[in-house]
Amino acid sequence: MANGAKHVLIVDDDRQVREVLHEIFLSNGFKCEIATDGREGLETFQLTRPPLTVTDVKMPVMDGLEFLKAIRDIDPDAAVIMLTGVGDVKIAIESLKVGAHDFIIKPVNVDELLIAAERAVERRQLLIERREYQATLERRVEEATRDLALTLRELQDTYRATLEALGSALDTRDVGTEAHSRRVHGYVQTIARIHGLPERDVKDIEHGVLLHDIGKIGIPDAILLKPGPLTPEEWIVMRTHPEVGRRLIERIPFLRAAVPIVYHHHEKWDGTGYPLGLRGEAIPLGARIFAVADAFDAMTFDRPYSRAISYEAARREIERCAGTHFDPDVVRTFLSMPDTILEEIRRRSLEP
Ligand SMILES: [Fe+2]
Repeated sequence: MANGAKHVLIVDDDRQVREVLHEIFLSNGFKCEIATDGREGLETFQLTRPPLTVTDVKMPVMDGLEFLKAIRDIDPDAAVIMLTGVGDVKIAIESLKVGAHDFIIKPVNVDELLIAAERAVERRQLLIERREYQATLERRVEEATRDLALTLRELQDTYRATLEALGSALDTRDVGTEAHSRRVHGYVQTIARIHGLPERDVKDIEHGVLLHDIGKIGIPDAILLKPGPLTPEEWIVMRTHPEVGRRLIERIPFLRAAVPIVYHHHEKWDGTGYPLGLRGEAIPLGARIFAVADAFDAMTFDRPYSRAISYEAARREIERCAGTHFDPDVVRTFLSMPDTILEEIRRRSLEP
């Protein structure tokens, strides 16, 4: 037992008992406080805060049980041993229920008392250490959770910044891409949801839409920005952009989900597209949805070499290409969307 723990408050209205207890504890190296009843005991306890209290049960003014409750209120770790007469066992048990560590039946046996005292103080120490350990643990968990949340936020910021940086790198090379991307993004998102895709897949598809032409970064300006039509040789170079894009992003873990659209957005349902000439459902669904949305937007907006056509005409053209260029199921979903939804997506894409 540590020296600081060898400090006891003795409370008994019987002078003889007090003196015997005092003698026992003193000769065993305890610092002792003495009180003659519960009330006096409480005052002494508040002043000296001993780790151990030994108290009689039957006392005038404030009895042992009341005293026990009072000091446990002040210090929930207070180690208390009750002294009872043979007939007070019920009260002794009651006292255990409200927090006494032990009880000893009078007349007091020295060895029994010292063992009980040691056990009570050890148990008190154990409880304190356990609580401190738990508090430390909780603090660590809290700190770790905070750190984790911070890291996650930083990661998300990095993620967004990276996507934006990639997007604007592309914009500097191909004017008009951003507005087109935003509209196509809106169409794809809505078609995907109506088509019944789970929300997680919709999110992955969004990133693909944003980055679909990222591979154009690798196409020489002379071809990418050429004002006139491309020669067959130039088309061969231009058609490498899905492959360039795939190589660019597939090693970045958080962009990997965008690969299917980046790599396959020029495939056609009948197998005549590129880069792999995939056919039908071998083409990732996200890329099949993208193809419809991309074509619709290209047709309904002015481009350098073609005027915008009406929604109605664009719908007819998409319907005509179902089964050749486009997945017929996706076309069906697309055609089920009223003009008002398409208008709304277009209007929202202009918002900052
Ligand atoms: Fe493309």
